[in-house]
Amino acid sequence: MERTYIMVKPDGVERGLVGEIIKRFEQKGYKLQALQLIHPTKELLEQHYSDLSSKPFFPELIKYMQTGPVVAMVWSGKSVVKAGRTLLGATNPLESAPGTIRGDFCIDVGANLCHGSDAVESAEKEIALWFPKGVGN
Ligand code: TYD
Repeated sequence: MERTYIMVKPDGVERGLVGEIIKRFEQKGYKLQALQLIHPTKELLEQHYSDLSSKPFFPELIKYMQTGPVVAMVWSGKSVVKAGRTLLGATNPLESAPGTIRGDFCIDVGANLCHGSDAVESAEKEIALWFPKGVGN
């Protein structure tokens, strides 16, 4: 069964939107496989976002991701990678459609509430990175 890595970022945890984000994945029909509250290290975040290391916003991104705990999750189900990105909405919340998580709850690309893997291969890499002891099911 296809899996994806979904993460509630520090602003989502701080604003009390963890339940709302989980609810949307549950309502759609996806299955929660693992969940952990994590205070990520700089090293873990730099690995997670290694593809973006040359971007001008990279240092800010790594700093913001350390401003509080994140909720790391694995979800499974049919086409969950692509559908998970649809539930999240576009990266820039001003371009995210209403009805999506980002479209409904935020306005700033630098604080866009949540992360979702962009492909099946990156999902498996991210799951291994954030759940190094395995998902346990
Ligand atoms: P990216 O992987 O392009 O988007 P997504 O999270 O939708 O897969 O970018 C990772 C994060 O970097 C993004 O969620 C927010 C941040 N970011 C900025 O702060 N400024 C930017 O201009 C972009 C493109 C992203």
